[in-house]
Amino acid sequence: MERKPLIVANWKMYLSAKESILVAQSFVKMLRDEPVDIIISPSYPLLSAMKEICEGTSVEVAAQDIHFLESGAYTGDVSVGEVKDFVRHVIVGHSERRKYHGDTDEIVALKTKLALKNGIHPIVCVGESFEEHESGATIEIIREQVNRVLVDLSLLDFPRITFAYEPVWAISAGPGLEAKQPEAQEVAEIINLIRKIISGAGGNKYMDKMRVLYGGSVTAKTVKTFVSEPGVDGALVGGASTKPAELVAIIREVALLV
Ligand code: 13P
Repeated sequence: MERKPLIVANWKMYLSAKESILVAQSFVKMLRDEPVDIIISPSYPLLSAMKEICEGTSVEVAAQDIHFLESGAYTGDVSVGEVKDFVRHVIVGHSERRKYHGDTDEIVALKTKLALKNGIHPIVCVGESFEEHESGATIEIIREQVNRVLVDLSLLDFPRITFAYEPVWAISAGPGLEAKQPEAQEVAEIINLIRKIISGAGGNKYMDKMRVLYGGSVTAKTVKTFVSEPGVDGALVGGASTKPAELVAIIREVALLV
């Protein structure tokens, strides 16, 4: 089954409100009818403005995270109810949330479930740390992270999930600060493993429907190497996605492969 490629731009905490608006406005102006699905993910305060800017374009908006509970006394946190009017997607399980906010596999599974319950499509990030990679634990870590998300879900929810394989050690410290990257073949092997885990949990039908992305220091120069590997459906891009021309260039590189 053919899956349309997907590029997700995760702007993390890189841009001011003003910059985010300028980047988004100039980005949507540069787009043609691209054969690629596109999602941009700004910080929470910008979600409403992004929704307006993207209206009438093919670009959709994602929140960068949600709390795992519907509501409560959690100062500074943001609930699914607070974002759902503005987004169709949400990133959950990002390694920066796992590292700095203590998100465990259990919490990531709860966030995934809550997003689905509220009609939002989760983009679930998984990936091993440098130490886990070096000690040969990658397969075991990915298996645990993916299975923990899928185990509690109804099969009907499976096609609404996108997985992103982001080896923690390959993520850049900022725009232009690309980290070491895995071999494209290594990425393809892990993405293939993710599909096998999905298949084990839900059967081949689901494995073929769900998109699995790669993320980690992707730029317009490197995106083709990864996305041309079989089974790699697109990229989750951080630093490089904050520059409109670079983001468009990434999308065009992927469009050439369609
Ligand atoms: P970079 O592309 O900046 O390495 O970020 C990857 C990432 O974490 C996207 O979610």
